[in-house]
Amino acid sequence: MNKQKEVRILAIETSCDETAAAVVVNGRDVRSNIISSQIALHTQYGGVVPEIASRKHIEKIDGVIAEALKEAEMTLEDIDAVGVTYGPGLVGALLVGVAEAKAISYARNIPCIGVHHIEGHISANYIENRDLKPPFLCLIVSGGHTHLVHALDYGKYEILGRTMDDAAGEAFDKVARAIGLGYPGGPKIEKVSQEGNPQAISFPRARIAGDAYHFSFSGMKSAVLNYLNGCRMKGIPVCQADVAASFQQAVIDVLVGNAVRAMDETGIKKFAIAGGVASNGTFRKAMVQACSSRGVEFYCPSPVLCTDNAAMIGAAAYYDYLAGIRFGLDLNAVPNLKLGER
Ligand code: KG4
Ligand code: ZN
Repeated sequence: MNKQKEVRILAIETSCDETAAAVVVNGRDVRSNIISSQIALHTQYGGVVPEIASRKHIEKIDGVIAEALKEAEMTLEDIDAVGVTYGPGLVGALLVGVAEAKAISYARNIPCIGVHHIEGHISANYIENRDLKPPFLCLIVSGGHTHLVHALDYGKYEILGRTMDDAAGEAFDKVARAIGLGYPGGPKIEKVSQEGNPQAISFPRARIAGDAYHFSFSGMKSAVLNYLNGCRMKGIPVCQADVAASFQQAVIDVLVGNAVRAMDETGIKKFAIAGGVASNGTFRKAMVQACSSRGVEFYCPSPVLCTDNAAMIGAAAYYDYLAGIRFGLDLNAVPNLKLGER
């Protein structure tokens, strides 16, 4: 048997609007990564409708798992453990993945490992960077979270900073809606920004008082709304591309500003980014530059591993598996699960 050599994890992710399953061997070797996106379904409502998301997960999950196993050329008999996101996220959506994982774990008598969604995003960096090991700094920028963490070890994190209000991705989505781009906002703002001038409008870059590496994006979002209102009242035409590019630049300046401060103040020479916003090309370029000018090694997953996927959950679950972490059949969805909690 090759079980001594290989740990084969079936991973499941259903925390928001992607139904995803993957087979990951030894934490870094992705044999399949299937993502069934519900974006088209939610677009007509301008954002994710939780009840619709849950129902769609139920419809899709069995087929997505079957496809992940098929692409990996495995059956459930070949799987050593199931990893699943159990929080944070939409409770109804999380429950679908958690119930599925527990059913497989019970039927096959294999361990079930609950994974924190943010830990999954961080772990996406391990997949294409086989030599990356903690400690390193990581900036996770998604639709629900903006966290600057010190990854001390596998599964051990010190949170250096977090958003005090909106997440960066949430601000992208809200601004996109306000300028008529619709959902999902991030990729649309990035595309339109290519035609715009990032210096056209000066939106505020909030800096939280004190030493903490915290973030705030709601003031920036309000500044965009005020600007749009002002234009409307004065009858000035709005240049969508300039608003998008100027807003994107303001968000990136804040993200990179805190990242750079953390690099300089901690002296840690490895920096990773993760989460949906980390797929933004302008942000990636700015981080590459900030890191290279300081002699800091920079890591970022391919765009498909930045947005929600199950391969990242398989990577995180592997290190929990090695640490002997196991969850029972009482595993439940925890919509507001904190990083570092179990
Ligand atoms: O990590 P993710 O897929 O889901 C969450 O865990 O939230 O992140 C989704 C977020 C959305 O807010 C989306 O607008 C944003 O990431 N996003 C982007 C880009 N692609 C996705 N933001 C800026 N630029 C992008 N290219
Ligand atoms: Zn996510």
